[in-house]
Formats: sequence, structure tokens, C-alpha cells
Amino acid sequence: MTLADVAYAPELTSHDAEIEEINAEAFGPGRFTRAAHRIREGGPHARDLSFVATENGHVIASVRLTPIAVGEGKAMLLGPLAVRPSWKNLGIGRKLMGMAADAARARDVRAIVLVGDAPYYGPLGYVQVRPGTMTMPWPVDPARLLVMELVPGAAAALNGMVVHEDAARA
Ligand SMILES: CC(C)(COP(=O)(O)OP(=O)(O)OC[C@H]1O[C@@H](n2cnc3c(N)ncnc32)[C@H](O)[C@@H]1OP(=O)(O)O)[C@@H](O)C(=O)NCCC(=O)NCCS
Repeated sequence: MTLADVAYAPELTSHDAEIEEINAEAFGPGRFTRAAHRIREGGPHARDLSFVATENGHVIASVRLTPIAVGEGKAMLLGPLAVRPSWKNLGIGRKLMGMAADAARARDVRAIVLVGDAPYYGPLGYVQVRPGTMTMPWPVDPARLLVMELVPGAAAALNGMVVHEDAARA
């Protein structure tokens, strides 16, 4: 069980059950009441921009992106990101974050938003959302609402309530 045994791949439907287990282990039942979860309930995630790490065919880490609308602007919401406890601190989370960002950039996504720990995500390029611009459908600590621009200046277009892109079209 070493990093050499870890493979990275785009997410498939066959990974769903193991991803659910990993998220349950990482976040517990409270995950269903989180603001980001409420948004994700509005429609499907972007499976082609979501990635897993596997070992021996089993998922050991996962990251997902979900399309969102923020006022007139569009972006991706990142999360959940979770790594199985015995595989933490080996760079797997960072690697998945990089894969998701590269894939999003290649698909002309302009910005990625997430709710998470700034000390972890800051070095990966995320900064705090400018207060008063984005409104989440559930209270969020403003220090944890982060954005990374894939196109310089893209965050300026993200003004208003954050909803799943499908909910914005409805
Ligand atoms: C947070 C998480 C995704 C990180 O993935 P990982 O593969 O273990 O982390 P990486 O190997 O990419 O990075 C490890 C580094 O991040 C740091 N780190 C890990 N979690 C952190 C956190 N919550 N805040 C700040 N730093 C953190 C580690 O201390 C380590 O620092 P070092 O490189 O200076 O030693 C993983 O620990 C996890 O699944 N945690 C439970 C679920 C969770 O909290 N998800 C993120 C929501 S904020």
C-alpha cells in the first residue's frame, strides 16, 4: 500500500457507492445540512470534471465539481473533496484538486467556488470571496467561502445567490 499503487481517473457511475462511503466517513450525517450540499441537491454534478484516486480498483479519494450560477455569472462548485484516512497527507487531495482545476480550465470554466479550510485551499490558489457578493442558501462562515479565478477577473461576475445551474434555468 504505497503511492505507487495509486491511480487517478475520471469518475464513473461505478464509483458512486464507494464515493458515498468515503464522504460519509469524512463528513458524517452533518454533510446533508451543509450549504454546499443544498446547492448540489439542485441537479447533477459534472461527472466529466470529477475525479477519483483508486488503489487496487477501489476508490480511496474523490473530488467533484458541480455547475452553479451566481446571479448572471457561471462557475463550478468544488466538493466534496475527501481522502480515506489511511491515505491522508500523501498529496492525493492536492493532486485531485489540480486535476479538477485543469479539466475545468480546459472546458472554459471561469472560476471555481468552494466552502472549506482556507489554510488548505489557499496554497492551491483559492482566496476568500469578497464579502457581500455571493449569498449561499444556508449560513456559511465567510472565511470559508473561497474562490479561484481560472480567468483573471472572473469572480467579479459572481454576484448574487448561489444555485445549481439547473435551478437557475428552471
Ligand atoms: C482535507 C483533505 C481532503 C486533504 O487531503 P490529503 O490528501 O490528506 O492532503 P494533501 O496530502 O493534499 O495535503 C496535506 C497537507 O495539507 C494539510 N492539511 C490537511 N487538511 C488540512 C486542513 N483542513 N486545513 C489545513 N491544512 C490541512 C496537511 O497538514 C498537509 O500539510 P503539509 O503538506 O504541510 O504536511 C483530507 O484530509 C480529508 O479528506 N479530510 C476530511 C474531509 C475534509 O475535511 N475535506 C475538505 C473540506 S475542507
